[in-house]
Amino acid sequence: MSTNRTFTMIKPDAVENGHIGAILEKITAAGFKIVAMKYTQLSLRDAQEFYGVHRERPFFGELVEFMTRGPIVSAILEKENAVEDFRALIGATNPADAAEGTIRKMFATSIGENAVHGSDSDENAALEGSFHFAGREIY
Ligand code: CMP
Repeated sequence: MSTNRTFTMIKPDAVENGHIGAILEKITAAGFKIVAMKYTQLSLRDAQEFYGVHRERPFFGELVEFMTRGPIVSAILEKENAVEDFRALIGATNPADAAEGTIRKMFATSIGENAVHGSDSDENAALEGSFHFAGREIY
């Protein structure tokens, strides 16, 4: 069943480069409602658990180091068809392949430092959202 929710993070590169405001503007202009949001920093343990599915990948160490090096903005977003529409808004994982006007095309610098995360399924959106937010933090 579609929950009409997705989970996102504005990653440390985009925060460092001063893009929080511009990215949130793109997200809300595209019709997403922010139902939960926090400015936080992942611990090593948080990042290893969150990205556990990538544990065997050669880039896992680099990914965890990157995601813990500074603060992130995490959020749960609501919109009809949220997962698919958000992935269209952010563009391909590698900004070199991302379409013009997408968030990654505009703000990402590399496949590793790609500015934003977007859940890839309704199931993962629910798991990722509950990893970052308690029920009382979702409005
Ligand atoms: P995301 O899709 O948000 O979650 C998994 C992340 O792993 C992905 O963004 C990238 O940041 C990172 N990633 C995926 N492929 C590579 C790669 N080939 N090299 C480095 N990082 C990668």
